[in-house]
Amino acid sequence: MKTERSTTEASKTGPSTRGPSTTRRGFIGQAGLAAGAAALGSGAAAPGSVAAAPGSGASARSVANSQEGLDILILGGTGFIGPHVVRHALARGHRITLFNRGRTNTHLFPEVEKLVGDRNDDLTALEGRRWDAVIDNSGYTPAQVGLSVNLLEGATDQYLFTSTRAVYTDFTAAVMDEDAPIGPADLPESEWTAYGPAKVLAERRVEEGFGARTLIVRPPVIVGPGDRSDRFTYWPVRIDDGGETLVQGERADPVQFIDVRDLAEFYIHLLERQTTGIFNSVGPGAPLSSAELVYGIRAITSTPVSFAWVDWDFLAERGQLPQRELPFWQPPRGRYLNYGRIDSSRAIAAGLTFRPLAVTARETLEWHRSREAGGGFSLRTGLDRELEARLLAEWKVGR
Ligand SMILES: NC(=O)c1ccc[n+]([C@@H]2O[C@H](COP(=O)([O-])OP(=O)(O)OC[C@H]3O[C@@H](n4cnc5c(N)ncnc54)[C@H](OP(=O)(O)O)[C@@H]3O)[C@@H](O)[C@H]2O)c1
Repeated sequence: MKTERSTTEASKTGPSTRGPSTTRRGFIGQAGLAAGAAALGSGAAAPGSVAAAPGSGASARSVANSQEGLDILILGGTGFIGPHVVRHALARGHRITLFNRGRTNTHLFPEVEKLVGDRNDDLTALEGRRWDAVIDNSGYTPAQVGLSVNLLEGATDQYLFTSTRAVYTDFTAAVMDEDAPIGPADLPESEWTAYGPAKVLAERRVEEGFGARTLIVRPPVIVGPGDRSDRFTYWPVRIDDGGETLVQGERADPVQFIDVRDLAEFYIHLLERQTTGIFNSVGPGAPLSSAELVYGIRAITSTPVSFAWVDWDFLAERGQLPQRELPFWQPPRGRYLNYGRIDSSRAIAAGLTFRPLAVTARETLEWHRSREAGGGFSLRTGLDRELEARLLAEWKVGR
């Protein structure tokens, strides 16, 4: 484990990377080469294992430690994102400690260290310890995050805070990059208690504690196997069931999401490279319309299916609202004008990559079918079939 960090200061919100100029694949290859060299007793250093790339600011220590594997603490780790991060980190040769209340999915990861506490008021299990990096997935309020930041700011080199796209409450900026306004301008901060605004204040606690070492990731809807919200899962399931399928809004409505595996890989990539900054981790890599989404998903099934686009206002008049009954995009107008056009170019430059939609859709569907086979399961969101048929019938009469 590292006992001190390299001291290059990064800009507060802009990205900075200390570490060798390796790609993610390069790291695996080099780790493999290093392991191979060690196994052969050649003593030969793998490329990149000693000297940092010129001008990268990386210390030899950080490169060597990356190849030894990092000691990573995850605040959370047993919900949706956490297990994917743990699996990927372990596969990359890192060592994991989990901190949670010991209530959820306690059967997971018997091989990793588990510390029990409550981030609302009991962090004693973390006292006197040190990690190379911390991933904070379970911080929702400034109070929670303030407690963990205060305790850990001197106990870790990096603190990756999982924030959210919901920090942007006004999506009308022409460019929705990381510098777009955050927090509700029409409310005093004392009333920033809803999910997105509370995350803004939590981000601030991270910045106050970690300064130039701040690392914040802002995902949109996170999708894939294990997603308990079903907002994306609804679509592969509905399309695989076949028949005439209601799709809300317009064919051109923009849709964004991130596969949880892409997010997990990005997290570990950021830690391996000691990257700092604030990142929108929003996929896919190129604009995707709702028509491309549903036709893309159709490509993974042979069930006969057709699509009928139904006007947002018609649906709203019947009590069917975006993000509630109608997952998981917004009509691109009013304060949600550019909700589906968040700019991820900074994250892409820092190494965020995206699985193809077909892979996300197929593997999410397979995961859903296997949980369904366990019995007694119904989707948590999306139109029920009877209501969908009724809405479609009414929509056609009016046309
Ligand atoms: N899902 C999305 O679409 C989406 C989109 C954007 C951002 N996000 C962000 O993603 C994060 C959620 O990720 P996740 O739940 O999948 O993370 P995770 O790493 O899987 O962690 C979840 C675990 O945190 C533990 N936990 C909850 N409250 C705790 C507390 N008071 N003290 C200690 N441990 C606690 C729970 O275990 P115990 O019950 O055992 O304590 C839970 O299993 C949030 O920060 C959320 O804002 C999600």
